[in-house]
Amino acid sequence: MTDPKKTITKAVIPAAGLGTRFLPATKATPKEMLPVVDRPAIQYVVEEAVKAGLNDVLMITGRNKRALEDHFDRVPTLEIQLAEQGKDSLLKTVLDSNDLGELHYVRQGDPKGLGHAVLRAKVHVGDEPFAVLLGDDLIDEKEDLLSEMVRVQQKTGGSVVALMEVPREQISAYGAAAIEQVEGEDFFKVSELVEKPSAEDAPSNYAVIGRYVLSPKVFEVLENTAPGRGNEIQLTDALQTLAADESEGVYGVVFKGRRFDTGDKLSYLKANVILASEREDLGANLLGWLKDFVKNK
Ligand code: G1P
Repeated sequence: MTDPKKTITKAVIPAAGLGTRFLPATKATPKEMLPVVDRPAIQYVVEEAVKAGLNDVLMITGRNKRALEDHFDRVPTLEIQLAEQGKDSLLKTVLDSNDLGELHYVRQGDPKGLGHAVLRAKVHVGDEPFAVLLGDDLIDEKEDLLSEMVRVQQKTGGSVVALMEVPREQISAYGAAAIEQVEGEDFFKVSELVEKPSAEDAPSNYAVIGRYVLSPKVFEVLENTAPGRGNEIQLTDALQTLAADESEGVYGVVFKGRRFDTGDKLSYLKANVILASEREDLGANLLGWLKDFVKNK
């Protein structure tokens, strides 16, 4: 029998997208491998899952995504060379990127949408609640959003989405949620979810950001979810079904911390500048240069 409150140990990271917004950089390189400062974007996401105690990470990949598996694997010749040259801190960064949980990979095959990608995790996940992390969203390393969502899932037994207030004119880029206060709690009940509504039709300006902790019931629902927006099987539509199911329910944790979007060029560039400006080894030089650059532009 399903025990919705089983401990959560698994994270699923959909990474099969073609990354067309970054062509030609993504012709031969997965978009998840584009560096944010000096780590590929996907590494931040895997680190976030492991930090929240989700050690078993399943990536949903596709063609041309082999670099993802290589990145998280050992490179013995490089490790030996760095050790021999006494480059200890570089060696540590290489070893750290191999030592991130237990990674598994499955291919999506047909690109039929986010819901379809998540459904590919069914056999691996089985009958336990699990997290989904979307690679385009980076959450500030100082935040504990995922742990908080796990806590809410364990308390409610339902599914949990991360929400962020956005200006109404931006809501059409996201799933939007109507929410209701839960007496005495700091999370919300989600009464309605709509994938990428127009500003006029949106039930609110609470956007679903790319973190979910889901009941395994979602698999059965996804199997019966018809293609929606963009003719793709939408995770948001499956969550709407769960929200309407009294025995399941969807809850929202409103995130007020920093989220970096690496999904389009401008926000990707901003994420690089912000995160580099906070680095001990780069920040002061970068900011000094940037101020001069902007002044003389
Ligand atoms: C996906 C989801 C959307 C969500 C968004 C968060 O959309 O379908 O509901 O708000 O991620 O980043 P995508 O950005 O993949 O089009």
